[in-house]
Amino acid sequence: MFNNIYNGKKIFLTGHTGFKGSWLALWLTMLGAEVCGYSLKPNTEPSMFGELNIESKIKKSICGDILDVEKLEASIEEFQPDIIFHLAAQPLVRLSYSEPVLTYKTNVIGTLNVLEAARICKNIKAFVNITTDKCYENKEINRGYREDEPMGGYDMYSSSKGCVEIMSSSYRRSFLQGEDGYAMATARAGNVIGGGDWALDRLIPDCVRYINSGRKIEIRNPIAVRPWQHVLEPLSGYLLLGQKLLEEGKKYADGFNFGPNEESVLKVAEVAQKVVENYGKGEVVVHKRDNLHEANLLMLNIEKAEKVLGWTPTYTADVAIARTVDWYKHFYAQDTDMYKYTIEQIQEYEESIKWNKNYVIK
Ligand SMILES: NC(=O)c1ccc[n+]([C@@H]2O[C@H](COP(=O)([O-])OP(=O)(O)OC[C@H]3O[C@@H](n4cnc5c(N)ncnc54)[C@H](O)[C@@H]3O)[C@@H](O)[C@H]2O)c1
Repeated sequence: MFNNIYNGKKIFLTGHTGFKGSWLALWLTMLGAEVCGYSLKPNTEPSMFGELNIESKIKKSICGDILDVEKLEASIEEFQPDIIFHLAAQPLVRLSYSEPVLTYKTNVIGTLNVLEAARICKNIKAFVNITTDKCYENKEINRGYREDEPMGGYDMYSSSKGCVEIMSSSYRRSFLQGEDGYAMATARAGNVIGGGDWALDRLIPDCVRYINSGRKIEIRNPIAVRPWQHVLEPLSGYLLLGQKLLEEGKKYADGFNFGPNEESVLKVAEVAQKVVENYGKGEVVVHKRDNLHEANLLMLNIEKAEKVLGWTPTYTADVAIARTVDWYKHFYAQDTDMYKYTIEQIQEYEESIKWNKNYVIK
């Protein structure tokens, strides 16, 4: 997979105690990489990081804050990574309404700290900088945003990630030109689902919590449309982008969207209903909305990732939802070794990439 580029490579992964970071840490170790994680402690109970004992599966796990510049720089300098995957963030829209300063400090200043710390370490060749589909100025239009469209964001989370995009582009032009510095790209993915996420105010974890407590599933915004994708989809995009940056450098130092195909762009109510069908229990009801703004329509145009990287989505939303529900069912039934089961889900996804005739790089 990925031209075997990660075998023996040293990877510095921020956000490895989070949902996507935990999956990425495991996948990288399967690819033969030495992973050094750098994050705060898991912020949910349970957490995938804790339940699968990911600390014991990777080379090194550092409990550190990306706002602690001294510790961050020392950790990177000591590990001497080949590539950084930067996922650490305050990623929740609704929390950004109550914690705007924390959101901006973590997402904007924190990312700048990681970019700067990476520039000091001469060994680093590549940097994959994770932002989001919400970085675009959302005009509620009925088509996907392209990479060259304006950044924006109504709420503080979205705009902080729009800022990260603008700041990263400026950083690239200021400090990472020609022979200077590493090759840095940004990755914008859609609404991610998968086992092991227990974050607050996210649809799937909310559904799972309601179902397991025997309560009706209350959804706030049934008609909101989002690009749903299984967590392994954007991660395969990040890994492919990292591969290209390591192999061919600054040619790929740019922004890339990673989203699902059009048929996986679904309404919140449709996804919740599919969760119920897959679970075999639960009932969806619409809860009275509060007045916090959330976008109604959000889609990504993924032609650039398809043409330039040879990346393409592999799972439909139906498959993504089925795999996600299976994961939680096994977790709560306590009938399976969840570490082994997660590895099997990654292997199954790798197989499906091999059968995906549109996926160019295998
Ligand atoms: N989950 C999604 O649907 C989604 C969609 C698009 C983009 N993203 C982006 O993907 C990335 C990972 O998201 P996630 O869903 O795994 O989030 P998560 O909340 O599960 O994980 C966040 C990680 O960041 C770490 N972190 C937070 N503040 C930190 C700090 N100050 N110093 C060090 N580490 C810190 C946490 O410890 C955790 O490891 C984020 O950048 C997020 O914006 C997520």
